[in-house]
Amino acid sequence: MIKIRSYSKNFKEHAVLTDINIDIREGENTVLIGASGSGKTTLVRSINGMVVPDSGEVYVGNERIQFKNKKALRNKRKHIGMIYQHFNLVERTTALHNVLTGALGRLDTGMDLFRSSLGFFEKKDKEKACEMLSFVKIEDKQDKRVDKLSGGEKQRVAIARALMQEPKVMLADEPTANLDPETSKNIIKLLMKINREKGVTLVAVLHDVETARNYFDRVIALRGGKVYFDGKTRDLKDSCVREIYGMEKAN
Ligand SMILES: Nc1ncnc2c1ncn2[C@@H]1O[C@H](COP(=O)(O)OP(=O)(O)O)[C@@H](O)[C@H]1O
Ligand SMILES: [Mg+2]
Repeated sequence: MIKIRSYSKNFKEHAVLTDINIDIREGENTVLIGASGSGKTTLVRSINGMVVPDSGEVYVGNERIQFKNKKALRNKRKHIGMIYQHFNLVERTTALHNVLTGALGRLDTGMDLFRSSLGFFEKKDKEKACEMLSFVKIEDKQDKRVDKLSGGEKQRVAIARALMQEPKVMLADEPTANLDPETSKNIIKLLMKINREKGVTLVAVLHDVETARNYFDRVIALRGGKVYFDGKTRDLKDSCVREIYGMEKAN
């Protein structure tokens, strides 16, 4: 489902990612770990074409990402949901409205976009948005303004919005970094439920190795911009974890 080949990225003189090769199968759940600055965000952002590599290729669903072709990128991103640590919602509008905007990525005509910008959404989109809010278990909050919601509720809205796109792939960059431990656990469980029940291929960046171990089948660890470990989570040894994070101290 996701294929990364000989991928390298530099920012100015600084090599951030060097010769990355990764294959992720459809329906897998993968956690990406590594010390801060090891290139995790750069790597997930390159999967949906937000970071252009200096060399190498990225394929999603057998098609090569055309980093320079805006229309092709837009089409590709329709099938890739993205979840962020700061939720990236429109705070001054309702949960439902935020979720409805997730449907915009699927609209093809300028007329549809124009109607939506005025707040006219199709009945079937509204029904679907309610269904997604109910899937993430906050249907009772649909008419609340986002700035009145808790962090965990905000992340649920963001996940419901991503689900509106009917994604094949879901990327989550530290989705629980701003949440308390109990809420974090529930958000991870929700992402795993989406992976399991909807068959969505999940790639999540996490800081917390324990959570990574408890929930994910596969782990990819970056160290100094290279893949340092790639395998089953149960095969990740404590000594390897220490090496991965030892890098942080060295900086
Ligand atoms: N847009 C950018 N311009 C310059 N340097 C960047 C940019 N984005 C990331 N970097 C650098 O690339 C390295 C990896 O960053 P990042 O992918 O955010 O790591 P992580 O998510 O693992 O903390 C860091 O040294 C960071 O400073
Ligand atoms: Mg990051």
